[in-house]
Amino acid sequence: MCGIFGYVGNSNNAAGIVLAGLRLLEYRGYDSWGISVKRGKKLDVDKHTGKIEQAITQLPKSTLGIGHTRWATHGGVTTVNAHPHLDCTKEVAVVHNGIVENFLELKEELQRIGHHFVSETDTEVIAHLIEEYLKKEGFASSVRDAFNRLKGLSAIVVAYAPSAEIIAAKSGSPLVVGVGDNEFFVASDAVGIVKHTRRVIFMEDNDMVILGKKLKLIRLPEGKVVKPLFHTIDWEFKNVQKGKYKHFLLKEIYEQPQVVENIAINYGADTKRLSKLIEEAFGTFMLGCGTASYAAIAGTYLFSRVAKKHVNFSIGSEFAYLEDYLTPKSLLIAISQSGETIDVVAPVEKARKRGSQIAAIVNVIGSTLYRQAQHKILLGAGVEKAVVSTKSFIAMVAILILTAYTSAKRQEEAKELLMQAAGNIRVILQNAYVKRIKELAKKLVKSSHIFVIGRGLAYATALETALKLKETSYVHAEGFAGGELKHGVIALIDNETPCIVIAPNDETYDDIISNAQEIKARGGFIIGVGPKNNNVFDIFLETSDAGDATMLSQIVLAQLLAYYLALYRGIKDPDKPRNLAKSVTVK
Ligand code: F6R
Repeated sequence: MCGIFGYVGNSNNAAGIVLAGLRLLEYRGYDSWGISVKRGKKLDVDKHTGKIEQAITQLPKSTLGIGHTRWATHGGVTTVNAHPHLDCTKEVAVVHNGIVENFLELKEELQRIGHHFVSETDTEVIAHLIEEYLKKEGFASSVRDAFNRLKGLSAIVVAYAPSAEIIAAKSGSPLVVGVGDNEFFVASDAVGIVKHTRRVIFMEDNDMVILGKKLKLIRLPEGKVVKPLFHTIDWEFKNVQKGKYKHFLLKEIYEQPQVVENIAINYGADTKRLSKLIEEAFGTFMLGCGTASYAAIAGTYLFSRVAKKHVNFSIGSEFAYLEDYLTPKSLLIAISQSGETIDVVAPVEKARKRGSQIAAIVNVIGSTLYRQAQHKILLGAGVEKAVVSTKSFIAMVAILILTAYTSAKRQEEAKELLMQAAGNIRVILQNAYVKRIKELAKKLVKSSHIFVIGRGLAYATALETALKLKETSYVHAEGFAGGELKHGVIALIDNETPCIVIAPNDETYDDIISNAQEIKARGGFIIGVGPKNNNVFDIFLETSDAGDATMLSQIVLAQLLAYYLALYRGIKDPDKPRNLAKSVTVK
């Protein structure tokens, strides 16, 4: 959600570097963009609505620039509302992620003393506030004092025409500083930086950094200079390119067998540690949002069935209403790809304040969640650029399978199941199988609704299958627990309504087949997914048995179906579904 990119250094192509950086951050989701560069003692600005795609910018040569991709919150999608925002003198330019909660109050205060606003955004107040402080103090202290007055979670990067420095500060939304040879980068995500340097600093909340000839890190609110902690990113630029694939989504779907194998081979110790924490805790909660919440639901079934342990589940945004249970003996397992989802990091922060133990299952090293947690397991899924989550989900579930089996002292068995599942995923990714998925996608192209049912662990599969179909192909799809059909949903079934039936070879098989019969009796069109065929299926897509890990290949099948359905329904870029952002950093 919104992307920030800033550059200062020896190159006089700041605008080009910033534009290329913004392009790498496009996947986060945005609807307008803009860049500002320093030209002598002035700032030039170039702003647009729509996508960057092949855009070029006419901005002049410069060694300092800041840019932004905006996902509208305050004010519509217009060029005026796009960032960077300027002050009255047009000497201060600000790009901003997050929300200034007290912006109306600040705006009124600034208007009363003569500031003139041109946009509807909350961001513009920051530029005017800095302008006000600049009347009495220097650039750095003006940014510090202005930032200290902002309420809410924000990340900003500021350029000031008379200065050869850019200044960044954050209190929630992520910012990463890249340290090159006589040059610095700052971005919302290391993905934008790794092309230039792998040496980075993950900014902490209330850090402010001054970047120019040198780097100076300052702790807010007081402004104490602190020593930066440098990290080296262990992935390369080629990992964030599409390579031979048409879309990142497809590339990431195809990367999944290695993701599962990696977990089977290398995660023994990590999952042992997590299972011990669950053992010792007095009450464990798992939480996540969207796809990650379905991984958490799968986790609750796995812990109950395999490890005979009760684990509570909550959607991240609902956890605030459940947290009264938390004590210092509670364990909160937060699951997130980005580690920046506000509905995850906010409740985690509250739980931390209550003294609870925090474990994170997270993909992005250095992310807010990663830093919040005392116990961390990285998903190891690599960079996921398509907005729609695929390999992260597979990694989350694989880690939970391994942890539940480890709790039950059956770790080796789980490793074998995961290896088997990786093999089964490879079968689904072969041309012959993909051809069958494409045929099904063609058949479903005109459907207005698709229902997906499952029971037990397959209920989580049904939910995730439906979400993939919805967000990728814009078909209305709903996932249900098979047993819920008769309690209402069956009223929606009529002639030829497609219904995907997730039928693993477990204790749910007979009951889910009965549910499929009920749907068929009302004219529904049944697509069976599982290891065993059945007469009730109109179409059967086999996913070989890998015990509890069968779910993994069923999900991959669903991802491919969603992808091809999107293409056949004329969706041009399934990497960036409408209205969605990769990293949801606002409530
Ligand atoms: C769906 C999807 C979203 C995310 C959700 C949480 O494909 O990607 O539902 O799963 O926004 O994001 P993270 O995992 O980054 O916390």
